[in-house]
Amino acid sequence: MTTVDRNMKFKNIKGIIFDLDGVLTNTSEYHYKAWKMLADELGIHFDRNINEKLRGIPRKESLEIMLAGKVVSEKEIKRLMDIKNNYYNDFLTQMNPDDILPGVLELLCETRKAGIKIGIGSSSKNAKTVIDKLGLESFVDSISDGFSVDNHKPAPDLFLHCAANLAVSPENTIVVEDAESGVEAALNGGFWVVGLGPAERVGKAHIVFPSFENVKLRDFIGN
Ligand code: G6P
Ligand code: MG
Repeated sequence: MTTVDRNMKFKNIKGIIFDLDGVLTNTSEYHYKAWKMLADELGIHFDRNINEKLRGIPRKESLEIMLAGKVVSEKEIKRLMDIKNNYYNDFLTQMNPDDILPGVLELLCETRKAGIKIGIGSSSKNAKTVIDKLGLESFVDSISDGFSVDNHKPAPDLFLHCAANLAVSPENTIVVEDAESGVEAALNGGFWVVGLGPAERVGKAHIVFPSFENVKLRDFIGN
């Protein structure tokens, strides 16, 4: 199901903005487990299919999807978000550089050597912690995260915020995303988009790879 368009290469690229969860590391699994623990406690059905809808979606909106119409007060929403985040942070304590997904480190090294700026555009409020745990701080020029903008993906705001900090324009910048909402956000902002994962999820991206395993910069960037 590899849908790499080998003929398509981006030109004149000055920056790459990577989403974090599901792109640099598989935190999506920790998010799933933390939501599942909370849902089980509340007696709400939650499975991996429902979890797929939460890719790229901020914590509060994710909780609303998980609650599946169950009405709770703002105070309770805050309490439930904190419980989920505590579970998630417990998982993060085990995280280390071995959790960087295959091919990612090599690609970041190549990007650095090519003089291309590197940004992170993640809806997560834990993005900086995750980057630290993975030991990737030295690769990253700027992080835009769950604290940076009000409008979440598919609004382009987060990626535009990151591009502005990197001092690059969308037409010279690639966004790498594993979420449908993230691909849409990048397209809405006028960026070039690499989608990671199945075409049903990220097929609207300009180029799609199943993962970064064995992917080189020259596979998607020309001169
Ligand atoms: C990323 C993940 C989502 C997660 C969101 C908020 O976008 O893909 O699954 O819900 O970040 O994460 P946070 O760490 O702030 O709860
Ligand atoms: Mg993601």
